[in-house]
Amino acid sequence: LQVFAGNSSPALANRIVSELEAPLGRAIVGAWKDGETRVKLEENVRGSDVFVIQTMSRPVNQNLMELLVILDALRRASAARITAVIPYYAYARQEKKTSGREPISAKLVANLLVTAGADRILTMDLHSPAIEGFFDIQVDHLRATPILAAHFRRLGLDDLVVVSPDSGSVARAEEFRRRTGGSLAIISKQRPGPERAEVLEMVGDVEGRHAVIVDDMISSGWTLVKAAEALLARGARSVRAAAVHGVFAGEAMRLIQESPIEKVFVTDTLPLPEGVSSDKVEVLTVA
Ligand code: R5P
Repeated sequence: LQVFAGNSSPALANRIVSELEAPLGRAIVGAWKDGETRVKLEENVRGSDVFVIQTMSRPVNQNLMELLVILDALRRASAARITAVIPYYAYARQEKKTSGREPISAKLVANLLVTAGADRILTMDLHSPAIEGFFDIQVDHLRATPILAAHFRRLGLDDLVVVSPDSGSVARAEEFRRRTGGSLAIISKQRPGPERAEVLEMVGDVEGRHAVIVDDMISSGWTLVKAAEALLARGARSVRAAAVHGVFAGEAMRLIQESPIEKVFVTDTLPLPEGVSSDKVEVLTVA
């Protein structure tokens, strides 16, 4: 078994190889002077079972291209089996056309990965599980809910209410609740514009309870912050959040920092964005 990594998250790659007690494969992964991606494997991979760790963090397109070029290099160097380990699969929110003349970018990315040389994909909490079906190769679709829920159990909060911030997250929230105990509440959300969210309705009793909002990702942060405000307005005792992928686009960190949310737990499927931080955000590893 050999493990290589691109530049998307050296910290996660190091945590994974340290769990495996295996060294990281030697390779040059960088850029030529004109900006093109440059890869040179510095180890023999002929006949090997190879794993490439590359999450789709920002800059997304550059990290995706690095992954594609590494896969191509491995395929041409006769690796026996190549698994692309993609903790966060980007473009997953473009998995269907919502109006005419739009792409299905999640499918395009799937095609690119297979064409480049991936024999298997290992990923976590796809925004839409249907994306698994975009591949005709094996996909190991892992979930981070056990890690996040175990952490909440250790916090020992009584009177917990697990909150789905929209209809798409109900199954994940229910799975979380099954592991932590407590009751379930469901929010109906609408998006008045891109990167905006507002709460329409809420089902479930939250008064006097510690609320935990469970979601697959935090991007603009609006879903989370608006859900937290609605929960407190309905009498929740405190609000925390557990999300798998901390995308934290744009002003998300500032929104969270200024919000009444006590703590936000995310995993390290993505590195925290550089230059912005919040003491309200805590990272759990999926390594
Ligand atoms: C909804 O479709 C997703 O499950 C997340 O709730 C959403 O992507 C979070 O986005 P934002 O942080 O931009 O509101």
